[in-house]
Amino acid sequence: PATSLQDIIAHAKEYGFVFPSSEIYDGLQAVYDYGQNGVELKNNLKTVWWKAMTQLHDEVVGIDAAIFMHPLTWKASGHVDSFNDPMIDNRDSKKRYRADQLLEGKAEAYANAGDEARAQALLNEMGRLLGENDLDGVRNLIIAEGIKCPISGTDNWTEVRQFNLMFSTQVGSVAEDASTIYLRPETAQGIFVNFLNVQKTGRMKVPFGIAQIGKAFRNEIVARQFTFRMREFEQMEMQYFVRPGTEMEWYNSWKQTRLAFHKAVGLPAEKLKYHDHEKLAHYANAAVDIEYQFPFGFREIEGIHSRTDFDLKAHQDLSKKKQQYFDNDIDPATGKPYGNYIPYVVETSVGADRLFLAVFCNAFTKETVGEGEQQKERTYLKLHPALAPVKAAVFPLVRKDGLPEKAEQIVKALRSEFRVIMEERDAIGKRYTRQDLIGTPFCIAVDYQTLEDDTVTIRHRNTMEQERVPISELKAKIGYAVSM
Ligand code: GAP
Repeated sequence: PATSLQDIIAHAKEYGFVFPSSEIYDGLQAVYDYGQNGVELKNNLKTVWWKAMTQLHDEVVGIDAAIFMHPLTWKASGHVDSFNDPMIDNRDSKKRYRADQLLEGKAEAYANAGDEARAQALLNEMGRLLGENDLDGVRNLIIAEGIKCPISGTDNWTEVRQFNLMFSTQVGSVAEDASTIYLRPETAQGIFVNFLNVQKTGRMKVPFGIAQIGKAFRNEIVARQFTFRMREFEQMEMQYFVRPGTEMEWYNSWKQTRLAFHKAVGLPAEKLKYHDHEKLAHYANAAVDIEYQFPFGFREIEGIHSRTDFDLKAHQDLSKKKQQYFDNDIDPATGKPYGNYIPYVVETSVGADRLFLAVFCNAFTKETVGEGEQQKERTYLKLHPALAPVKAAVFPLVRKDGLPEKAEQIVKALRSEFRVIMEERDAIGKRYTRQDLIGTPFCIAVDYQTLEDDTVTIRHRNTMEQERVPISELKAKIGYAVSM
């Protein structure tokens, strides 16, 4: 049977990957905590992203901007005025829904029933109405399509209203002095406002990029599907500043580079696809999502947007600080330097939590192994060794005769390089199972022969094959496997 999201949620909780936030108080909707294994996997993902974006690109540097920003930032970026979701309430069930999601659900039903044309027509009509901010039109469309509340079964809908997704809070102690600031809904703006700081102090030449990993917050009204849509989440974003007119070239190039990244972390090509945006955000002249096939269908994990000079220009207008770059490269058309301009921006933006969920779903493997009487079901996480929370577990066969001491020596020799743990409890078979469940690629068994010839048995997670290797080769062998 196919893996369900429920299997994933249960496994994530049982083996210390993801817990509901403040669970003893029954949790907090759309907020999650990463456990002892989850934090390792997530950190590993962030590290490989950081390395892929900065270390492997001379012209991309990182920053770490604050979550709080001057309130005008969000005026300039358009988030105060247009970062909204159209919401509709059902009067009978008192449940609130995203109007666009109700319509998308209906379109999906048409598509599943084979009526692609009708599905597309509905999506186009919805796009048009939302584009014109015709909220009555959206409500009429929901009613005309006969969309009912899944709880009450009625179509007793209220009007559609726009809800801003930003969380706000107060800085300053006294109410009168306090001013409203927002928790950033994207990390990108921290990069835009530092564009010139980095360009000047780093003597960067266009094209160049600035990368950042950090928390973002959105008051998602309809929070579903586990860590796919959270209210507090982490983004890994990069803004690539280019000469105007060259943006499509860079957009296409980053589109390829980012897809290759997702394959490199182990997501299979057939579960990944591009999805071009039909309706472009106010700041974009081209946009594509990279989608992964989750147990609940193909959904966005990363967005790649050609954002033009929208953001830098808006910040220049509002801050009255020039956001220009002087390009002294020679323009072949004029024979003179390109001169001053506001760069265009190509953005790559991936959610660390969504990537985590994709990688976790993909790694979750159930297999039947053995023959006849010996047949049994085996569950393991087929994680790329670079991502696995624990790289190797060392097992002394028995807890006597110097085997634990020998195992301890091996752990000590390896742990400055990799996360390696010692496992002494339970029978060997159980220890293997425990490591499989958290995705440990190597189990190293220390036995009596080890005391004689300094060799150990390595058991490989995916194949369960075992081989005898000298202790002196362990570092190189594991090191090779965990590099990406
Ligand atoms: N700066 C552009 C930007 O923020 P976005 O498409 O709104 O674009 C980018 O978000 C990525 O951030 C998404 O592809 C997704 O991976 C992640 N993301 C957005 N909202 C999220 C949420 N509520 N929970 C988890 N991840 C989210």
